[in-house]
Amino acid sequence: MSMCRICGGSVKEFLDFGRQPVSDAFLAPGDVDGEFLFRLAVGFCTTCTMVQQLEEVPRERMFPQDYPYRSSGSTAMRSHFEQAARHFLGTQLTGPDPFAVEIGSNDGIMLRTIQEAGVRHLGVDPAQSAAEGAAAQGIRVRTEFFEASSAAAIRASDGPADLIYSANTISHIAYADSVFAGAATLLAPDGIFVFEDRYLGDIVEHTYFDQIYDEHFYLYAVRSVQAMVARFGFELVDVEHLPVHGGSLRYTTARAGERQPTPAVAEWLAREETQGLADISSYEKFAAATRAVCADLVELLTSLRAEGKRVVGYGATAKSATVANYCGLGPELIPYVCDSTLEKQGRLTPGSHIPVRPPAAFSDPYPDYAVLFAWTHAEEIIAKEQAFRDAGGKWIVYVPDVHLL
Ligand code: SAH
Ligand code: TMP
Ligand code: ZN
Repeated sequence: MSMCRICGGSVKEFLDFGRQPVSDAFLAPGDVDGEFLFRLAVGFCTTCTMVQQLEEVPRERMFPQDYPYRSSGSTAMRSHFEQAARHFLGTQLTGPDPFAVEIGSNDGIMLRTIQEAGVRHLGVDPAQSAAEGAAAQGIRVRTEFFEASSAAAIRASDGPADLIYSANTISHIAYADSVFAGAATLLAPDGIFVFEDRYLGDIVEHTYFDQIYDEHFYLYAVRSVQAMVARFGFELVDVEHLPVHGGSLRYTTARAGERQPTPAVAEWLAREETQGLADISSYEKFAAATRAVCADLVELLTSLRAEGKRVVGYGATAKSATVANYCGLGPELIPYVCDSTLEKQGRLTPGSHIPVRPPAAFSDPYPDYAVLFAWTHAEEIIAKEQAFRDAGGKWIVYVPDVHLL
């Protein structure tokens, strides 16, 4: 048993993916020696119900200056964040000279809409090369980790924030106490702190086991988030389900007692009760389903190789690190993986050392099968690569089970 990073309670381990690399640490060919590995294992806090990892990767390893992930590579995500920004511009950012802060602003995918509207804003992100992309569009960015000290500095220089927003970042931060202390310092009395992250309920229901990787230190659910924010003086006042990234929830929090919670909060808590998200047996079932999927995937890829079929990967996602390294997939089963991110091309996938090639390599010539590691972008990619299926190609998808499309 280890100790809960949020409440100090006991964390019961339910799934161990073994030694894993940092999921976005793509390697230069010839630079594979001495790769950093850690034990990727997840457990459930028997006190506050927070699902979390048992080993913490140092933040500078996960989010170095040349962190390669770029949010804007997906058309669907660009429109998602534009909608989010428009929503806040029409609701929370309507007072005189409103101020919005984004934690984990990456390449500016969300703040560009706020900036274009002429609203005072600030992005905070330690990933320098991504932040430079945002700054080049006129977005104000601080290249550092958001935590208690940086939040206090922002409060001193820019004043209180009406909105603190963060997508796919707060669950990456093991040191939640410092982040929420910072948010408490920075937020205006009637401000809101809104964050959205992958939803544990979707992960468990659909065996989305590859949503578990180093960056996703916590796997949030409504009950665990409500308890977490309450410890830090916040109250969960709204919950909204989002279809992005395989299912996410947007949590709206305010200073305790400032806002009346919407009925959605109680509805989601009841739904989680029915789903069994506070029962360890649900996680044991999830772990068994994960093992079965991996065995099926390895069997399929091995038999395709025996038949002489060509199989490549599509989407060098962070998620694919978990699948490839847990299932032991390497270049002998998947000779390369195509990805549109310039920063990943020409490099090797972490741990599994599969070369990453540009999407143009996909049709040169088309393989017989392609493992869709970027399954959360399935609609966008399958439409874009329609010629692959027209040529007789088949997509291999491994969640919620192994199947062909
Ligand atoms: N919000 C974007 C990016 C998500 S990737 C999106 O949803 O697509 C996570 C980002 O959080 C990375 O750019 C990483 O550098 C940043 N990050 C990690 N820890 C952080 C912290 N403590 N403060 C601010 N940003 C952080
Ligand atoms: P994500 O699931 O973490 O957002 O990562 C998606 C990865 O898939 C990212 O490396 C970019 C890649 N990708 C493509 O190669 N082509 C595409 O059309 C899309 C949407 C993503
Ligand atoms: Zn706990």
